[in-house]
Amino acid sequence: MTDHFDTIADIYNKVWYFSEQYQQTMLTNIIDLLQLGKDDVLADVGGGTGAYTRLLLEKAGLNKAYCIEPSRGMFLESQKIPTIESICADADQFMRLDLDFTKVLLKEVVHHIPNRETLWQYLHTKLPRQGKILIVTRPYEIALPLFEAAKSAFRQKQPKHETLMQELEASGFNASFNIHPYEFTLDKSVWFDMIRQRFMSDLAGFTEGEIEAGLQEIDAKHSADTIEIPDRIIYLLASVN
Ligand SMILES: C[S@@+](CC[C@H](N)C(=O)[O-])C[C@H]1O[C@@H](n2cnc3c(N)ncnc32)[C@H](O)[C@@H]1O
Repeated sequence: MTDHFDTIADIYNKVWYFSEQYQQTMLTNIIDLLQLGKDDVLADVGGGTGAYTRLLLEKAGLNKAYCIEPSRGMFLESQKIPTIESICADADQFMRLDLDFTKVLLKEVVHHIPNRETLWQYLHTKLPRQGKILIVTRPYEIALPLFEAAKSAFRQKQPKHETLMQELEASGFNASFNIHPYEFTLDKSVWFDMIRQRFMSDLAGFTEGEIEAGLQEIDAKHSADTIEIPDRIIYLLASVN
């Protein structure tokens, strides 16, 4: 999986950008839910290129922000941001680093983490009383206009949010979630380019031919030049007390 992110590291911010409004809504929701402020140290686990880590540091006036990222290519991008502390590590290695932090963000990464329950137990012992974890992810039944085989690949890796809630509560957290609908329109050519560039790791296993066949499948259902993207984001918050 790390290999996939190595290959798209230099274009990652562009293909996942969506829009200024999308990004601002995401940042505001993360800051509000995590109650981020100047006393907080944020650990952005699977923080990718560090783009969100930096924006959160600036917008919330954080004390410090770590971008923890295992893909060398993504890590090298994040290292270009001098205001954040970038560390090349996956979630397992992160636990062994034993850093000090007050809030944890797992944005669009929870489906990549193999030993989730070990991570929840570690975080429960490590976080202070006001500590919080925010998981930002998508529903198991993804609403994005992908071809059916891509949706199936997504489901194979994606944990249901009910499962995540149970795991976190079993580790001692108070957990809650909300689903935030975010609908927007893109030029179909932009959406198709994102799919061709395999903006989601679930697309990495498809050949060029399979991707083109998949795009034809989407095209048959969406004849206009623009395409509605009915995105739905799950924000799952776990608090220590
Ligand atoms: C879809 S990207 C999200 C990046 C960033 N959080 C964002 O929202 O822009 C998923 C990231 O998770 C990282 N990742 C994959 N496996 C991981 C693991 N076991 N522990 C931590 N991060 C991991 C990938 O390298 C990739 O950068």
